[in-house]
Amino acid sequence: MIVESNASLQPHNTFGIVAKAKTMVRVKGAADVHAVLAHPELSREPLFVLGGGSNIVLTGDVKAVVLKVEVAGRTILEDGPKATIVEFGAGENWHEAVTWTMDQGLGGLENLALIPGTVGASPVQNIGAYGIELQDRFESLDAIDLMTGREFTLDATQCAFGYRDSVFKHSPARDSDFGLAGRALILRVRMRLPKPWKPVLGYLDLHRKVQESGITQPTARQVYDWVCAIRSAKLPDPRVIGNAGSFFKNPTVTPEQCQDIIARDPGIVHYPMPDGTVKLAAGWLIDACGWKGKSVGQAGVYDKQALVLVNRGGATGGEVVTLARAIQTSVYERFGIRLEPEPVVV
Ligand code: EPU
Repeated sequence: MIVESNASLQPHNTFGIVAKAKTMVRVKGAADVHAVLAHPELSREPLFVLGGGSNIVLTGDVKAVVLKVEVAGRTILEDGPKATIVEFGAGENWHEAVTWTMDQGLGGLENLALIPGTVGASPVQNIGAYGIELQDRFESLDAIDLMTGREFTLDATQCAFGYRDSVFKHSPARDSDFGLAGRALILRVRMRLPKPWKPVLGYLDLHRKVQESGITQPTARQVYDWVCAIRSAKLPDPRVIGNAGSFFKNPTVTPEQCQDIIARDPGIVHYPMPDGTVKLAAGWLIDACGWKGKSVGQAGVYDKQALVLVNRGGATGGEVVTLARAIQTSVYERFGIRLEPEPVVV
């Protein structure tokens, strides 16, 4: 077990915020977690699981013991007639894992290319982009209970996936035992890549690529290249400009609420959902309030996508949170909608 004291967390959060962990343990496998749980001092401290740090805002040094997940591994577990099952260690970089599947000639994850973060964080958020969510390709995962040290496996139903949501984002409430927030460390994730592969091109930006290129029967690699090009054009690369992807979830409203907004703002981008609700583009709402390019200290709103908050260099977590609150207030005042942040404020 590798234990570091006063470890810098700046390289471990995609916002690039300067903060330290009093104690950080690099978790290469279940044995490291067992060692922490059996340790005379570490076992008494609160624990904090950190993946690629692509979904957190650090507002100060972290006092809990940071378990930095670095479990490695990429394997084709099963190559059956209906699907290929691949397994990744939770510490693998998500985009590199997607690229690896492409190199193996396996389609299915291409729409999720270039999403920052680790494989282990992907089910927590139920990451999604360009018409596919992780849950559409998820098979199962192995995790370890940080209270008991017991290892367990969950299938998709047990993960209770929702829009940018899962069992890992909920704390056990008093009236139910649903929720594994802060309690589980994901070790391995298995994905089911269906056969035959079919492209998912319904999303407007991809549809445009088909029309521009005239390629109506693209390969998985072609779709992967398109997704990389679309994302690179409108989302900042966290290695260059610190950010945590979309900062807010796209809110859903009733059709009546949507009509109300359309009556005042006919341009609002909205998508009817299968359950009868309407999803609104939070980026559009923020943009309409004039936030694009604005800043609080060194925290800013990205000028090509208002849903993304960026670190213009040396931003503090406090500045990011202040900016986020100001955006929430102005969207609420103008549209009566409360935006819910995606990242966890630590
Ligand atoms: N829009 C504006 N102004 C802006 C930003 C967006 O008018 O500043 C409009 C766009 O023109 C578009 C609509 O809003 O008509 C939606 O924008 P976009 O297609 O960029 O997608 P999004 O809803 O902003 C979501 C996900 C992204 C994902 C893309 C593609 C959420 C919170 N975000 O963004 O996920 O990559 O769709 O599927 O659901 C993430 O979660 O970190 C993330 C990047």
